[in-house]
Amino acid sequence: MSRQAPAWQYDEFRHVGADYADPAVAEGYDARHQRLRGDLAAEADHLLDALGVQPGQTVIDFGCGTGTLALQAARRGATVYAVDVSEAMLAVARRKAAAAGIEGIHWFRGGFLTYEHPGDPADCITSSAALHHLPDFWKLVGLRRLFGMLRAGGRLHLMDTVYSFPVEEHAAFIAAKVAWFSQQVDAEFGDEVATAFREEYSTLDWVMEGLLRRAGFVIERANYPDPMLANYLCRKPG
Ligand SMILES: C[S@@+](CC[C@H](N)C(=O)[O-])C[C@H]1O[C@@H](n2cnc3c(N)ncnc32)[C@H](O)[C@@H]1O
Repeated sequence: MSRQAPAWQYDEFRHVGADYADPAVAEGYDARHQRLRGDLAAEADHLLDALGVQPGQTVIDFGCGTGTLALQAARRGATVYAVDVSEAMLAVARRKAAAAGIEGIHWFRGGFLTYEHPGDPADCITSSAALHHLPDFWKLVGLRRLFGMLRAGGRLHLMDTVYSFPVEEHAAFIAAKVAWFSQQVDAEFGDEVATAFREEYSTLDWVMEGLLRRAGFVIERANYPDPMLANYLCRKPG
């Protein structure tokens, strides 16, 4: 379920940076990300373990992409709502679920600003590599909406590109990263990373921690495995 957005609201369906609306990008997504991140299902399991997802719990995944985490959560017996602005990514996700014989995942075309949760308050919310598609003000609006969808005591796991490198070193840092991604995956991925630095809205570590707290969350764990990556495990108090 997605609500009609007012004309003044940020249009989260307009793609900025990487074009996940392109069916070719969606089709190739898993293979290319696996080259970088390794086994995507194992990565999702690790995250679901950190959240302690149990059978019967409700999980919402924002920016679900090709659905790997949604599938792994459903395999654990969770009730899963998987949300993405891209119909092309959702089409790949639905096909993967059908091929795996997994039914009952609730797929929604929508996003942080427009998804209306139709089910019980969630026990857990996850979002990986998606929130940086919103400018900072709209990140806060989105995080407050996620807070409202969680039950008291429920948890959010947020993984995203967040910058903790010294700003005075940005030119050398970014050039080295673009070169590294080109080598590690392919030249096209290097271009995608350059586009992300130029056009997407990844923010600073201290801004992101502030946004999470302003949205009402308690940050239980923040870790920065790389100066352009962050994981936050957060709890809704109460
Ligand atoms: C880099 S992919 C991440 C997919 C998946 N979560 C993963 O970890 O592989 C980013 C995804 O976020 C989606 N996205 C972009 N803006 C969004 C928004 N405002 N709300 C929800 N999803 C969004 C894109 O369509 C894309 O599928």
